[in-house]
Amino acid sequence: MEILERGTKITLDIKQGKVKVNFSTIDEPPSNHIDIEEGTRQQFIKKEQAAKLLKVLGIMNTLGEIPKDKRRKYYQIDRFIELLDNFLKNWPESKELVVVDCGCGKSYLSFVLNYYLQDHLRKPCYFIGIDANPEVIKGAEKIRDQLGYRNMEFHATKIENFYTDRDVNLVLSLHACDTATDQQLALGIRLKADYIVAVPCCQKDLRDQLNYNQLESFARFPILKNKISDIITDGLRVLALEAHGYKVSVVEYISPLETPKNIMIRGEKKGKNPKGMEKYQEAKKYWGVTPALDKYLYEI
Ligand SMILES: C[S@@+](CC[C@H](N)C(=O)[O-])C[C@H]1O[C@@H](n2cnc3c(N)ncnc32)[C@H](O)[C@@H]1O
Repeated sequence: MEILERGTKITLDIKQGKVKVNFSTIDEPPSNHIDIEEGTRQQFIKKEQAAKLLKVLGIMNTLGEIPKDKRRKYYQIDRFIELLDNFLKNWPESKELVVVDCGCGKSYLSFVLNYYLQDHLRKPCYFIGIDANPEVIKGAEKIRDQLGYRNMEFHATKIENFYTDRDVNLVLSLHACDTATDQQLALGIRLKADYIVAVPCCQKDLRDQLNYNQLESFARFPILKNKISDIITDGLRVLALEAHGYKVSVVEYISPLETPKNIMIRGEKKGKNPKGMEKYQEAKKYWGVTPALDKYLYEI
């Protein structure tokens, strides 16, 4: 008897009352993909190979096309994977990669990442999605069941209230609103995750707390005030991660023409950094703020 599941063929042979189980990998169909947007970058999630997944997610229609209004989502998720690719490729095949997706929404990102890791890179992985909205969690569970992705669990809870005693390797968020990003960064630090990745969104927390110092004359204008406060908020998040022993990079996630929420903060756990903690404390003093992130680091 043969069972096919997510690129693996399981053969069961029963002879004289003895059961022999054999696992083998089915090669993916060759890629003859066409770029979604002509003349642009290589796609990591090839639409021909990932057709079933993309259809269940509603990104691809029944004709096998990605309609215009879904291209942005497809592109955003594909780009997220591109920016994590080095880390994903270097992850050892023998160790399960445990991912927590904070403010997961319908969890497109987790489903696609799960597909990329398990079906494409053949690396064992496990996903935990958390979102404060129970409706989106129900939707994600339905998609999981349709896809038969058994390595996923979802929780309707606020990030700040979530706890797991699993050894978590990657804590991520994509456009988690305002201080939900701080809750996610703090969760990653508390869980001592190997990697923490955030694409922040609508940073409001510090806007009216900040002492704009020399920038006061610019901050008279609401639009400039928003931009300055966005940068200081994300800058302080970077310093907080460094203070807690992460090596951080900040990169452009997608074009600002797509969305102004286009900064990705990536942290990789390295070790203690007392100098980094000093810098963080100094920066908070200078800007006159108590960032939300500190409040969520309660267990440290
Ligand atoms: C803009 S959506 C992004 C969803 C998904 N990450 C994506 O990119 O498609 C933000 C999500 O964060 C969730 N959220 C906001 N604050 C939260 C919190 N404190 N704890 C858990 N989820 C939160 C919302 O319910 C919403 O689903």
